[in-house]
Amino acid sequence: MIKFELNGRPVEVDNPPDEMLLLVLRDSLKLKGTKYGCGAAMCGACTVHVDGVASFACQMSVSDVEYAQVTTIEGLSEDGSHPVQRAWIEEQVAQCGYCQSGQIMRAAALLADNPSPTREEIVDEMSSNLCRCGTYNRIFKAIERAAKEV
Ligand code: FES
Ligand code: FES
Repeated sequence: MIKFELNGRPVEVDNPPDEMLLLVLRDSLKLKGTKYGCGAAMCGACTVHVDGVASFACQMSVSDVEYAQVTTIEGLSEDGSHPVQRAWIEEQVAQCGYCQSGQIMRAAALLADNPSPTREEIVDEMSSNLCRCGTYNRIFKAIERAAKEV
């Protein structure tokens, strides 16, 4: 059994140790908010927090997070009230939505680490996460809005 903390609660899974964390989250633990985009560290749709750091769940095996704290979009807040989530709504960021949980998780990790990022720092950090709908300007504005609250 592999033990870790998921969204604040202890979990144990009996998946093979080398199974992709993203698939364990989605298929075994039924948390579908984290998306499978490329599987190759190129899109960021799978971004979760591992011990507070924005991480590609497609590039980790479940054994990589043994005893770690993993947070998915479902655990970022209980009711969608995280400042980044509220700012996302205010700025009406989402289009198709597929990339958005990954974007929000990366933005939340950025602001936890750097509560007052410059536009350049925001653009640089968010460059790991692609949006095929091109919502980038709204993403940047939402992060700047959220930064005023954190
Ligand atoms: S699915 Fe992980 S980076 Fe694209
Ligand atoms: S909102 Fe469609 S891919 Fe980003």
